[in-house]
Amino acid sequence: MTGTIIAPSVLSADFSRLGDEVETVIAAGADWIHLDVMDGHFVPNISFGPPVIKAIRNRTGKVFDCHLMIAPADPYLVAFAEAGCDIITVHAEAGPHLDRSLQAIRGLGKKAGVSLNPSTPESAIEHVLDRLDLVLLMTVNPGFGGQKFIPAVVEKVRRVKALIGGRPIHIEIDGGITPATAPLVAAAGANVLVAGSAVFKGGTAEAYRANIAAIREAADGALARDAG
Ligand code: DX5
Ligand code: ZN
Repeated sequence: MTGTIIAPSVLSADFSRLGDEVETVIAAGADWIHLDVMDGHFVPNISFGPPVIKAIRNRTGKVFDCHLMIAPADPYLVAFAEAGCDIITVHAEAGPHLDRSLQAIRGLGKKAGVSLNPSTPESAIEHVLDRLDLVLLMTVNPGFGGQKFIPAVVEKVRRVKALIGGRPIHIEIDGGITPATAPLVAAAGANVLVAGSAVFKGGTAEAYRANIAAIREAADGALARDAG
C-alpha cells in the first residue's frame, strides 16, 4: 500500500515567488502540486490560468494537479493540457456534459478528474466512473484557502470509496485539511490530500517540511490504526 499523497495548493503560496515556492515545497516533501484555477464566475474569486501554469511547469517534474473551478471548462481544456497539467479536474456542477468533458481530457492524453462541491451527491458520478482517474471531494465551498473543514463530507468520502470499488481511481480531498482533519478523511478512504494554508504557513522551507510531514503522519497513522 503506497502512503498518502500530499498535494499542496499553491493558492496559499507567495505568488510574487511562485516558481521558487514550487521548488521549495517539492524539496520539502510534496508529492504533487495542486493548482487552483478560479474564474470569478463559477467561484467568487479569480486566481490564475494557463500562462502561469506554463511559466512554472519547468520548475519540477512532479504531477501538476489542476483543479478547474471555471464554467464553462470545455473551451479551455486544450490550453490547460498544453500548459503542462498532468491531471485536469472539472467540476460536475460546471456544465451539462460531464461525460464529454472527461472524454476530452483523456483524449488530450491527460488524467481525468471530477470535483464535487460539498452539497453535490456522489450520484453525480455513478455513470462516469469508467471515465475517471480521480474524484476530488470538496470539504469547503470552493473559492478560497483557509476555510473551515465541513465534517459532513466525511460520510460522502466513505460512500464514494464504496462506489469506486476496486477501480484505480484516486480519492482526493480539498479544503481545510490539517493534521487534525487528515485522519478523518484518510480513514474514510481518501488517498490524496490537498492542503494550502496548513502547508504554506510559516513561509520557510523548514516550516513546509514540518507541515507536510505532520499531515502525512496524521493520515498514515489513521490508516495504520485501521489496519490493526
Ligand atoms: C478552494 C481550493 C482549495 C484551497 C485549499 O477553492 O480548491 O484547494 O486552496 O486551501 P486550504 O487547504 O487552506 O483549505
Ligand atoms: Zn483545489
